[in-house]
Amino acid sequence: MNLLDTRLQRATLTPTLLDLCPTPDDLRGDVLAGLASTPKTLSSKYFYDARGSELFEAITRQPEYDLTRVEIALLQDVMPQVRDAVGGDAHVVEYGSGSGRKTQLLLAGLDSPVAYTPVEISREMLLASTQRLAQAFPDVQMLPVCADFTQPVPVPPSLMPAARSLVFFPGSTLGNFDDVQSLDLLRAMRETMGDDGAALIGLDLVKDVADMEAAYNDAAGVTAEFTLNLLARLNRELDADFHLDAFAHRAVWSARNSRIETSIVSRRAQVVHVAGHAFAFDADEAIAVEISHKYTDAYFDDLARRAGLRVVRRWNAPASRFGLRLLESA
Ligand code: AVI
Repeated sequence: MNLLDTRLQRATLTPTLLDLCPTPDDLRGDVLAGLASTPKTLSSKYFYDARGSELFEAITRQPEYDLTRVEIALLQDVMPQVRDAVGGDAHVVEYGSGSGRKTQLLLAGLDSPVAYTPVEISREMLLASTQRLAQAFPDVQMLPVCADFTQPVPVPPSLMPAARSLVFFPGSTLGNFDDVQSLDLLRAMRETMGDDGAALIGLDLVKDVADMEAAYNDAAGVTAEFTLNLLARLNRELDADFHLDAFAHRAVWSARNSRIETSIVSRRAQVVHVAGHAFAFDADEAIAVEISHKYTDAYFDDLARRAGLRVVRRWNAPASRFGLRLLESA
C-alpha cells in the first residue's frame, strides 16, 4: 500500500459517533414514573453520567470488588482459545463498553478484527475510550454508538467486510437486568450477531454470601458514593432537592432471586421535589435502584436456550469466581 492509500485508509477509519444518547426528556420521564410507582424505582442505567462512570471505575479498584480483576485475568488466560473459536476478520460489537480495558485485550488477542462498535450510554466515556482504542488499533475501524443498549441499536456497517460478528458483553452487566429484560437483551444480541455470529459474555457466579455482599459494601464507601451520585445527578439535571445525607446506600443478597439488591433508603420521613413534582418518603422507605444477578450454569444455560442461543465454550476463573461463555445460535 502506498503512502496516499495509507492516508486515505486512516481518514476513512477515523471514528464518527452515532449519537442516540438518551435525552433529558427520557431521564425526566423515567425518573418521574419510577418515583411515582410503588415501590419506588430508578433505573441503574442512569448511574452512568460522567461522575458515575468515574466512580464505577473506582469501584473496580476496590479490594472487595474483584469481578473486574478476576475477569481480566481469565480473559488473558483463555484469549488464545477465544481467538481460535471466533476466527479472523470479526466485527466486534460491545454493549456497555465503559472504559474499554477488556476490549483492549480482546482486540489485541483476536485474529485481525476489522471493526469495533462500542455501544455506551455515557458519551464522555465512549469518546475517551474510542480515542484510546483508535490509537492502539489503527487498522480496526471504530464505529462508536452512544445509546441505551436496552433499546434496539443499529450497528453501522464496516468498510472492510467482516467474516462474522462477535458480540462482547463482559463485566456481568447482564446481571443488572431481570429475567424478562435479560431474555430481551440476549434475543437482541442474537439478532445483531446473525446466524453465523458469536457472543462472548462475562458472568459473575454464585459464591460465598459474605464475599458477594462485601463487593457491594466496600469499606472505603465508593459503592455508596456511586449509588448516591444518582440523587446528585437528579439534583443537577432535574432540578431536584435530594439531601444526600438524608439517604443511605443498602446492598443485600437475596437468596430467593440469586442477586444482590441495591436500594437507596430514606433515613427519615421527608418530601423531595423533582422537576416540579413532590414525592413523599416514609422513614426507611427504599428506592430500588439496581440488581446484580449471580449465575449458576443451569440458570444461564436455560436463559440462553430461551433466547435461541447455545453455550459452545465455557471458561471459569479459579474457584469458579467468574465465568466467560461463548455462545452461538442454537
Ligand atoms: C456494571 N455492573 C455489572 C456492576 C455490578 O456489579 O452490578 C455495577 C455495580 N454496582 C455496584 N457495584 C458495581
